Amino acid sequence: MRSPQKIELMEKIISLCKRRGFIFPSSEIYGGFGSGYDYGPLGVELKQNIKKAWWKEMIYKHENIVGLDSSILMNPQVWRASGHLKAGFSDLLVECKKCHKRFKGDEVKNVCPECGGKLTQPRKFNLMMKTFVGPVEKESSLIYLRAETAQGIYVNFKNVLNSMRLKVPFGIAQIGKAFRNEINPKNFIYRTREFEQMEMEWFCHPKDASKFFDYWKKERIKWYQKLGIKKEHLRIKEIPKDDLPHYAKEGADIEYKFPFGWGELEAIHNRGDWDLSNHSRFSGQDLSYLDPETKERYFPYIVETSAGVDRSLLAFLSEAYQEIKGARTKTTKPTKEVEIVLSLNKDLAPIKIAVLPLVRNKKELVKKAKEIYQTLKIFFRCQYDEVGSIGRRYRRQDEIGTLFAVTVDFETLQKEDVTVRDRDTMEQERVKIKDLVEFFKKKLED
Ligand code: GAP
Repeated sequence: MRSPQKIELMEKIISLCKRRGFIFPSSEIYGGFGSGYDYGPLGVELKQNIKKAWWKEMIYKHENIVGLDSSILMNPQVWRASGHLKAGFSDLLVECKKCHKRFKGDEVKNVCPECGGKLTQPRKFNLMMKTFVGPVEKESSLIYLRAETAQGIYVNFKNVLNSMRLKVPFGIAQIGKAFRNEINPKNFIYRTREFEQMEMEWFCHPKDASKFFDYWKKERIKWYQKLGIKKEHLRIKEIPKDDLPHYAKEGADIEYKFPFGWGELEAIHNRGDWDLSNHSRFSGQDLSYLDPETKERYFPYIVETSAGVDRSLLAFLSEAYQEIKGARTKTTKPTKEVEIVLSLNKDLAPIKIAVLPLVRNKKELVKKAKEIYQTLKIFFRCQYDEVGSIGRRYRRQDEIGTLFAVTVDFETLQKEDVTVRDRDTMEQERVKIKDLVEFFKKKLED
């Protein structure tokens, strides 16, 4: 049973997301659409920043990992070879005989959690989403929306290997949408039918796979911590042999302590030679690897790190969400109000700098502030705001995680300097306008 505080925190995050333009329910004017969500202007910035941070970490920091962007729609043989069309990629579905609500069999006991009615016997339900190519909807034009981005990588193994002159071990990474016909989408963007994955497939010698499986678990945990997630909010859950996905020899989940409880954030698998050997068999193309030095020929084993973009975003938001009682900002009068601060990591914050004229009815201040905004926005994601008291504007920026506020006041006009306020320490310092770009570059660089 979830505690009311946990539900309340989740509701507060959902409400902030809607109110401040992070995430909206999909097709809301038509009453929404099941588990669909749309990322608003700030949500899309946050999402891009997460993807950028991952890309930088996985690809730019490793000379032997390269990127790929493969298509969502693929030859349906891919999914036969991968085993996704079989029972292994199914959930157990149960239905309440009274209210007809459907649930995942492993998440409920034998009574309906909604109305107490009796549940049907569980039956297997395949999660692949179907569609048709061409004008006629017949069996031969049936195709699938990809259920993981990984398969696009495996079928390009030889293309990438040959065109990039790589040697095992090496990795191929990609970010993209995946689709699953989930029985029970839930917890906001945690489990949806359309979501994004950041996957890296590491091709290695079979004897090294277990070693790399351990290595990548550690590396991936470090990434979340580097971007602000506390150690105690992360844990590794090793998957027992009987619960492994159909393709895996070893598996572990990185779990995060979400407001609704511990949940999977990322999956790490040792997939053995499942994928390359099956694709070889089904396609008739030899996807084995010939070691140029030892002349040994083998199917490389694959160790994958598979993270959800949406789940990461929810984890970063949950971690950053803070409520601070009483006024934080010196310029606001003492108050019992609660201030919301989103203490997002500097690389993730959607807006880096807000430029604020102290008041908006002084032409010179507004002009100066706009000039500063025009200069800074070339280098950093900035927002200009002149509406409301300065205290209120600081709070509005804190609530969306803006790192710095630049305030243009009367002294600015004489001394050509501004006040820079830090979101977290709330310390204010005077900085010359001419030095602002360098000042922020230093603050925001690695
Ligand atoms: N290629 C391996 C793979 O797809 P997975 O454990 O099925 O492994 C990996 O999925 C990650 O994708 C999960 O840890 C999660 O972050 C994300 N994910 C999976 N299903 C999801 C869903 N229905 N909604 C949102 N994210 C999902």
